[in-house]
Amino acid sequence: MHVTSSIHDGASAPAREPSLLDRYLDVRQTSMRLCSPLSIEDHSLQSMPDASPAKWHLAHTTWFFETFLLTPNLHGHQSAHPAFRNLFNSYYEAIGDRPLRSLRHTLSRPSLAEVHSYRQLVDEAMAEMLRSRPAPAIADLVQLGINHEQQHQELIVTDVKYGLWTNPLRPAYREPGGKTRTIGSASTMQWRRFNGGLCFIGSDGQGFSFDNEGPRHQVYLTPFRLASRLVTNGEYLEFMNSDAYRKPELWLSEGWDCIHANHWNAPLYWEQRNGEWWHYTMEGMQPIERDAPVCHVSYFEADAFARWAGARLATEFEWEVAAQRCAIEGNLLDSDALQPRPAASPDGLTQMFGDVWEWTGSAYLGYPGFKPAAGAVGEYNGKFMCNQMVLRGGSCATPRSHIRATYRNFFPPHARWQFMGIRLANGN
Ligand SMILES: [Fe+2]
Repeated sequence: MHVTSSIHDGASAPAREPSLLDRYLDVRQTSMRLCSPLSIEDHSLQSMPDASPAKWHLAHTTWFFETFLLTPNLHGHQSAHPAFRNLFNSYYEAIGDRPLRSLRHTLSRPSLAEVHSYRQLVDEAMAEMLRSRPAPAIADLVQLGINHEQQHQELIVTDVKYGLWTNPLRPAYREPGGKTRTIGSASTMQWRRFNGGLCFIGSDGQGFSFDNEGPRHQVYLTPFRLASRLVTNGEYLEFMNSDAYRKPELWLSEGWDCIHANHWNAPLYWEQRNGEWWHYTMEGMQPIERDAPVCHVSYFEADAFARWAGARLATEFEWEVAAQRCAIEGNLLDSDALQPRPAASPDGLTQMFGDVWEWTGSAYLGYPGFKPAAGAVGEYNGKFMCNQMVLRGGSCATPRSHIRATYRNFFPPHARWQFMGIRLANGN
């Protein structure tokens, strides 16, 4: 049986909300579409421990549905191979052992074709499970699996980008002439003022959210200002040209050590050719566009830039309060640009969703009263609440249906391979 979204189309009204099965199948197909430009060899690329092969992402997201939904709930379900339970486990101690993350590229078997068959087998079983209305606890887990796969879709893009860039040939993910080229020019940055006060933070429980988005609670914010748009490549070039990478007064101690240990003097993917800066994109090497948002900078670089600019990064609470007023629209995965674009308008507060994840000045911690979910899925977020900073807003690789004002992403301060950028904040 070939599973398509037509499974549930039978007697339904045309304007109905997509069913859970529709959403499941749509997300599963998006993962396959993102991998479609890749060769079989590309699917096994892993050029650093943090970045996993595309084939592994396709298998691991399938493993998630099988392990947490099918095995415990679908009577008689038989896996494609019993060893997959360990082979494609990422970090769930309660599930059991797993191969070293840094060695995921060594899994030449199962083949890509076998991983595709594994996906189809699980899709058919999931379709069987979801044909009748699932119990609320099952539906919640399916939602978690869908959102988990969407997170891995972003990782497919960023990990493939890093893997292809590592090749001295700088091969493109897709041919130039697609949608990567940016349009428009950045407007003058302006400050948008917010009154602060006692503000609600976190998910109100309407719709899906990860456990780390709650409990909803109140924080007190003094008045603050946010930049109307993201920091641009042109502005970051000014920072670089001011010798900022050689001025210790701009850097956190750990950041100063980090830029020296890694010989950083520009964002990731930037290269100088004949005196001009170029950067690697999903469509290969392109000249830097001054008006596009700077991207692929670490927290250390974002923090130093803000200090150089006489400003600071927003706290995650300031960002969330500002974002509560913004529609969830922007240059997200759905636009298929796969590259941040200049702010489209000088009005209001722009680029809050999409383009680049915005580093905040907030450490990734549990909200007051936070309790991870019971069981193995409780390992999803809570155990990473140490030595990471929060990023907000999604990027050009984030699916639109995946992002919201309360969403908390997190990475260590040295990470640069995600689409990460900067928005300035200030006091009143
Ligand atoms: Fe995962």
